[in-house]
Amino acid sequence: MSVRDLHVSYGSVIALSGVNLELPAGSIVGLVGMNGSGKSTLFSALIGTIPGARGTVRILGRESARARAENLVAFVPQTEVIDRDFPISVREVVMLGRYGRLGFTRRPRAADHAAVKAALARVGLTELAERPIGALSGGQRKRAFVARGIVQDARVLLLDEPFGGVDATSQALIIRVLKELRDEGRSLLVATHDLAGIPDLCDEVLLLNRRVLFHGDPATALLPENLALTFGVAP
Ligand SMILES: Nc1ncnc2c1ncn2[C@@H]1O[C@H](COP(=O)(O)OP(=O)(O)O)[C@@H](O)[C@H]1O
Ligand SMILES: [Mg+2]
Repeated sequence: MSVRDLHVSYGSVIALSGVNLELPAGSIVGLVGMNGSGKSTLFSALIGTIPGARGTVRILGRESARARAENLVAFVPQTEVIDRDFPISVREVVMLGRYGRLGFTRRPRAADHAAVKAALARVGLTELAERPIGALSGGQRKRAFVARGIVQDARVLLLDEPFGGVDATSQALIIRVLKELRDEGRSLLVATHDLAGIPDLCDEVLLLNRRVLFHGDPATALLPENLALTFGVAP
């Protein structure tokens, strides 16, 4: 995936300015920035859902909409609004990730059921598959949405704060799965506030505050002067 000179404004608020980015295959890039630094805006721009965005986004050579239509990119958003009483099971939520791959009958086939089963196992939700999604804890629900991203079998995965509000067990499960996906040769961009976990998780780090402040190896990203630049505090 590559991004060239991306600019996004909401009215008079400049959310992103002159962002360039290359996401290499087979690597996890951590996206780090304070609240309001433009992380979620960057994800929206990458999947092509911000009408006024200026710049170029290419995912395996395609424009965002085309890449999404071809299931080349999967996105796990920061927050999912779900009705606690909405009668949809965990298994059905994960199957939604296969929707773009189903034939015109929209009826899941054996391969779709197998993909869902495997993804549920990878995030440790096999036992909870028939539960209503609203009956899960925050961390379990996040894992369900990660599983929904996995079954898309996309080459590029974008995850907006997958560790936000999750317990240690869920975080460990998600981290394991993200590394497996990386080792399969996929590209991952993962927004995270867990600075302590970065050396273990990330191959590269992108520090963001409307502009790209730094993009490179995790050790350099975590130097006090770079964190000061990112979070606006004296080192
Ligand atoms: N839909 C929107 N309308 C107006 N301003 C927005 C909208 N979404 C985000 N912003 C603003 O853009 C900036 C970046 O927000 P966001 O991308 O959500 O940052 P982050 O995900 O890093 O917290 C913030 O100043 C935020 O208030
Ligand atoms: Mg955000």
